[in-house]
Amino acid sequence: LNTDVGSPPVAAESSAPEPPAWLLPAITRFPRLGSEGAQRSTTETFDAHVATWGALSAWATPQSPESVTELVAEIAAAELTGRGGGHFPAARKWLAVLAAGPGGVVVANGAEGEPLSAKDAALLQTRPHLVLDGLQLAALATGAENAYIWLHAGRHAIVERRAAGLPGPSIELRTGPEHYLSGESSAVMQALSGGPALPAFRRVPGTVSGVQGRPTLLHNVETLARIAVIARGFGASCTQPRGGIPSSLVTVITGEGRTVTEVRPAASLSEVVTTHVPGVRNQAVLLGGYGGSWVPWATIASIAANEQSARAVGLSIGAGILAPLSDTSCGVSETARIVDYLADSSARQCGPCLFGLRYVADLINSLAAGNLSRSDRRNLTRYLSEISGRGGCHHPDGAIRLVNSMLTTFDDDVDSHLRKGRCRHGSPRPSIPVPGS
Ligand SMILES: Cc1cc2nc3c(=O)[nH]c(=O)nc-3n(C[C@H](O)[C@H](O)[C@H](O)COP(=O)(O)O)c2cc1C
Ligand code: SF4
Repeated sequence: LNTDVGSPPVAAESSAPEPPAWLLPAITRFPRLGSEGAQRSTTETFDAHVATWGALSAWATPQSPESVTELVAEIAAAELTGRGGGHFPAARKWLAVLAAGPGGVVVANGAEGEPLSAKDAALLQTRPHLVLDGLQLAALATGAENAYIWLHAGRHAIVERRAAGLPGPSIELRTGPEHYLSGESSAVMQALSGGPALPAFRRVPGTVSGVQGRPTLLHNVETLARIAVIARGFGASCTQPRGGIPSSLVTVITGEGRTVTEVRPAASLSEVVTTHVPGVRNQAVLLGGYGGSWVPWATIASIAANEQSARAVGLSIGAGILAPLSDTSCGVSETARIVDYLADSSARQCGPCLFGLRYVADLINSLAAGNLSRSDRRNLTRYLSEISGRGGCHHPDGAIRLVNSMLTTFDDDVDSHLRKGRCRHGSPRPSIPVPGS
């Protein structure tokens, strides 16, 4: 069992077998980027999954409208929010799809386009059937005709389920390109409709008109796994009694690579970081990944590992990425490399993203290099506000959030870069892993 930050799990009241204490069976380690050389974890087979989590019949066939309503009420009571990074309330998404009627599509999003994140890979590697349970349940509950899992492996698990003759549409595995944007919901829906895996402009939400114009319930794989746990009558995470705020899968960036672990909602984020990166003096943490925010170390200590706690101080835990920055690293240079990558990742479909984001990235690189003029500084402020909220899929918003948080979190260093061309850190080695840099 995962023995990470938190007190012993509370057993759920149920006549079904007692669930494991955690969604993730063990702490899983990945290299700094990609999955080559990643630690191989044991995959729970279908038979082992049923033995561990209980038989399917009681929960996987919500035949009556009342049982579907009851399930949605349980998801709402657990305050389950989407773990793809946006934290939209899952129950509200289900209600929108149910209102649109049957004949739709359900999708498990395992793209994990954010290079720092590895939680979805860890979950799919170790407990694919819990994700597929959630997907199958979503299909049955909404009367969907098609069920897809987007990207990543899992073929063997799907074959096992076919052999078990489970109800509902059979699950199809679809893969897309390895790209930062290939997990964005409109890109997934466009690809599953036969188009390119690129963000698409939508006037109507995907819950009403998604894959091939049909109502589409698209969830991150962690969200679906948690729904599969809720449906069995346990709490939203197996670590909590019914109705409690769920635990979270997080990816901590360490000196050696990325560690995926599961943390209780009450754990402090600084405690989570120091458990996995001990003995380092940190000045800040990049919270939520490339499109997240730099948060000063003193603030991190006051945030607990749940979205509600982060929102209370105007932040988000996003897809659960925690990338600490030591006292010896330069937050300005780190931001410059990340924004460069985000600008290069644009799908080049809208002006604010294609031109505005590239311009912002160039200005931040000038700041890091110590040659940003006073008028450039004014242009930066103007551009940050002009491209905010623009762009078809709001890709630039993540980069703007990151830059704005850099300007405040590292304000002294920004000032030094402006006045002296460099800061107290000199030319430190890059710390946060970024593809191609
Ligand atoms: C630029 C961008 C990239 C995204 N990439 C992913 C991704 O790789 N995986 C994912 O699950 N969600 C990703 N999302 C969020 C999805 O658009 C979508 O909100 C999510 O998958 C819905 O599932 P949830 O409600 O369970 O979180 C991305 C969003 C944006 C704006
Ligand atoms: S904001 Fe960028 S990535 Fe998103 S649709 Fe527009 S060009 Fe494409």
